[in-house]
Amino acid sequence: MSSTAVLGCLWGDEAKAKIVDVLGANADIVVRFQGGSNAGHTIYSDGQKYILHTLPSGILYPHTVCVIGSGVVLDVFSLLEEMQALEQRGIHLQDRLLIDMRAALVLPLHKDLDAASEDEAQQYKIGTTRRGIGPAYADDTARVGLRLNDLYHGEYLAGRLDNLYRYHHQKSTVQEMETLINELKEAGEKLQPYVAQTDTYLRKKYAAGARILFEGAQGTLLDLTYGTYPFVTSSHTMVGGISVGAGIPFKMVDKIIGVYKAYATRVGEGPFPTELKTAPAEQIRQQGNEYGSTTGRPRRVGWFDAVAAKYTSDLNGLDSLAVTLLDVLSGLPEVKICTAYQIDGKRITDYPSDPFLLAKAVPEFISLNGWEDDISACTKVGALPKSAQDYIIAIRDLLKVPVEIISVGHERGQTIFLNS
Ligand code: IMO
Ligand code: MG
Repeated sequence: MSSTAVLGCLWGDEAKAKIVDVLGANADIVVRFQGGSNAGHTIYSDGQKYILHTLPSGILYPHTVCVIGSGVVLDVFSLLEEMQALEQRGIHLQDRLLIDMRAALVLPLHKDLDAASEDEAQQYKIGTTRRGIGPAYADDTARVGLRLNDLYHGEYLAGRLDNLYRYHHQKSTVQEMETLINELKEAGEKLQPYVAQTDTYLRKKYAAGARILFEGAQGTLLDLTYGTYPFVTSSHTMVGGISVGAGIPFKMVDKIIGVYKAYATRVGEGPFPTELKTAPAEQIRQQGNEYGSTTGRPRRVGWFDAVAAKYTSDLNGLDSLAVTLLDVLSGLPEVKICTAYQIDGKRITDYPSDPFLLAKAVPEFISLNGWEDDISACTKVGALPKSAQDYIIAIRDLLKVPVEIISVGHERGQTIFLNS
């Protein structure tokens, strides 16, 4: 099979980047197809830590070409900072990065709008990353937005910016507008060598047998339509987002791997039925370093929710699972998995998308034995303590999807492949 999708299947932060990085050793091309700098993708390589926001997680390998597809919203200034930081660390991007000319731009205005709407929202606050993601996608949909290609057409750029500011009833001085236009043009010049029509490129490469990895950002429960609306992100994080955001037909996605944390976390507002408000929440947060890599916010922590997980697994048609951060649960006397919700006195096993029902959901748990041993050096499933193996089997059986990968630590080597 020549293309594989790696999708976060909870509320983001499932350690997707680690899985993409590990699989990237055998990939020719790694593609981001949605989201923007709201993502915080952490990779550890040779003891060094890298946090990527817009660049695909294949970037650390000199042999991979990384593609930022048209479905990504692009903050050109933060992207350039990210690129420069990598160059300074000896990671060269020349001839290895392609950015789609149609990517919608995230402008400073969008960040201001994001922050202002959060500050004014009161009980409707989403808890966004304040990276301007929602406003940028909204403007693109309203057809008032700007796209990367516009940076190369000076007069058009100025006119469209003016139109956008009017649309938002925002005023700016002639001076401010000139400065912004110049900064954007300058960023455009720096990015020009990377700009391409990436869908054509991807389809040709696929036909020629290239091995392609599609890297999801965020997670399915944050999908604009199928997530816990309005507490979602503004893009399609589920598998369908790949076709639209990379410009490829469905049948070009040969395999879909769903990434699940061994427990659950959520950062930002919104329903979270298995959330733990007391012990062992803090222990899991500390052991898992559950603080946002984009915003530094402490993440909400809870038990594995097999009702929500089955929903996202079915929604994406997963071929296999990657279960990550299993090592974080070491040392807990018992581990729990939610297998049903009690809502208004009824037992529900099909995840309800209705937020009013979800808010009332009382999780029903099964309890499994924990394990004491440090499992971070295990490289074979048979080396895991029996109770850790039982935990993985329970997830497999509840989701009815085989587990292909288990991650027991940050480093590439701390990965167990179950078919090997
Ligand atoms: P990665 O790719 C976790 C959450 C925010 C907020 C909601 C909307 O690292 O897994 P946005 O800024 O997108 O408008 O915020 O989505 N969110 C994430 N949560 N991981 C992410 O990315 C996220 N990107 C956005 O916290 O609840
Ligand atoms: Mg993250």
